[in-house]
Amino acid sequence: MPGIKDAKCVLVLGATSGIGRALALAIHDLDTAPTVIVAGRRQERLDELAKQGERIKTARVDINTSENELKGFVQETLSKFPELDAVIFSSGIQHVFDFTKPETIDLSKFQDEITTNYVSIFKLIVFFLPQFLKLSDEGRPSFIIPITSGLSIVPFPRVANYCASKAALHSLDISLRTQLAKTKVNVIEILPPLVESELHDHQGITPALAKAWMPLDEFTKNAMEGLIRGDPQVAIGTAAKTVSKYEQDKQETVQRLHDQISAITSSN
Ligand SMILES: NC(=O)c1ccc[n+]([C@@H]2O[C@H](COP(=O)([O-])OP(=O)(O)OC[C@H]3O[C@@H](n4cnc5c(N)ncnc54)[C@H](OP(=O)(O)O)[C@@H]3O)[C@@H](O)[C@H]2O)c1
Repeated sequence: MPGIKDAKCVLVLGATSGIGRALALAIHDLDTAPTVIVAGRRQERLDELAKQGERIKTARVDINTSENELKGFVQETLSKFPELDAVIFSSGIQHVFDFTKPETIDLSKFQDEITTNYVSIFKLIVFFLPQFLKLSDEGRPSFIIPITSGLSIVPFPRVANYCASKAALHSLDISLRTQLAKTKVNVIEILPPLVESELHDHQGITPALAKAWMPLDEFTKNAMEGLIRGDPQVAIGTAAKTVSKYEQDKQETVQRLHDQISAITSSN
């Protein structure tokens, strides 16, 4: 099965902290010596990462932006790195919304969250796909690696829109994988449990969460094992339990329905 060990050049969006940073460094350390492009908004964090290895390149980007800017970013990245064959979508934000106090709900935060966690990722995938389908035609594998969450399946109401954005991305991953099944484009979804990171810092609850989260090293070790094997879904810890409880046979069911409908529509 093709896995991340087969990638030559990996872009990690959201590599300036937490899960993205840890995966970028672990992939950089693979024996296969891929180029790793680390991306995010904070330049000083990118500069620090660039010092960790010659094969670490940087790209400053804010994905909460217009379609044209996203397209320009993809074109520029591909012109600098024509070998690019994997993208990890680790960029993400999380906001708390209280529907019992609707006057406190900041709709600009809702918009930022849905754009960052879903809408821009959808657009970026559309812009990267021609490159990956070209590689597929040449017989080479490529990898689209979105990061969702166990909360994409069972929501945590305090962060309702975050969960909705991850549910949308989770659903998209299944459809993408199904549509691309006959190509060499691999869609690998990572579903983390609660993991040590900076995601919740602005909510002021990090010390409480730190009592329950999975240490980043443990998460990264497990995630890398799945990425190297090329598992279609890399669900870890409590997220793995959620998948096995609520999503048994889902991918197979979707693939069967897709194949049935395709057979009917192509015979008309
Ligand atoms: N930690 C958890 O418990 C957990 C659980 C399940 C899923 N996840 C998911 O895992 C992924 C990584 O999160 P994390 O926990 O590692 O959080 P984190 O430490 O806060 O990292 C989030 C990353 O996203 C980047 N980012 C945010 N907005 C961006 C934007 N507009 N444009 C470009 N980059 C942006 C940040 O970089 P800059 O600020 O430099 O732009 C940062 O590198 C996220 O998708 C998150 O939803 C996390």
